[in-house]
Amino acid sequence: MTLKKPQQSLTEMNELVLPNDTNTLGNLMGGRLLHWMDIVSAIAAQKHSNRVVVTVSVDFVSFSESIKLGDVVTLKAKVTRAFKTSMEVWIEVYAENIPEGTRKKCNEAFYTFVAVDGNNRPIPVYEIEPETDEEKLFFESAMRRRQVRLIQAKRLKPSEAPELKDFFGF
Ligand SMILES: CC(C)(COP(=O)(O)OP(=O)(O)OC[C@H]1O[C@@H](n2cnc3c(N)ncnc32)[C@H](O)[C@@H]1OP(=O)(O)O)[C@@H](O)C(=O)NCCC(=O)NCCS
Repeated sequence: MTLKKPQQSLTEMNELVLPNDTNTLGNLMGGRLLHWMDIVSAIAAQKHSNRVVVTVSVDFVSFSESIKLGDVVTLKAKVTRAFKTSMEVWIEVYAENIPEGTRKKCNEAFYTFVAVDGNNRPIPVYEIEPETDEEKLFFESAMRRRQVRLIQAKRLKPSEAPELKDFFGF
């Protein structure tokens, strides 16, 4: 029997952009942001699985707005769906300029983690029970995103991805 767990609340993390985090334009380096996104989403996946997790895929990353030196960065992560041993996590990033009183959404991405045992081998995780309409949408669409990433990783043939076939009509 597969054990189910209700969807957890958001995992949040805050960082202050310091000089060593920026490029020569005074903007936060993309690599530093990806590192922070990796950490917040790994914490979310650990909380869902109660296991050590490893990053297996990073995708659908968008850098829509630059983040400036001195901004406070808030990262929010949530497990959207758990499969057998892997979990998809959605991350949203906001930048706040406290003196100016402004806050904007800058980035989002999906990270996938695998829960591992003491021998670093994949181990099953709880399924998720989505509750809100938004959680249900993310849960449903997670299957298509999983199929895209497994096709890209050459772990799945397009002909073995019925949800994608239905969605794109090919
Ligand atoms: C993650 C790891 C343990 C998986 O081992 P494996 O022998 O490939 O195991 P499996 O084939 O059983 O795959 C395990 C899960 O990973 C998923 N997976 C593997 N590659 C994937 C990819 N590119 N994208 C999404 N999911 C992937 C599989 O679909 C499976 O998920 P499921 O059990 O929910 O169906 C192994 O690949 C590993 O250790 N990778 C390095 C992880 C790491 O060091 N990360 C830090 C980044 S530098």
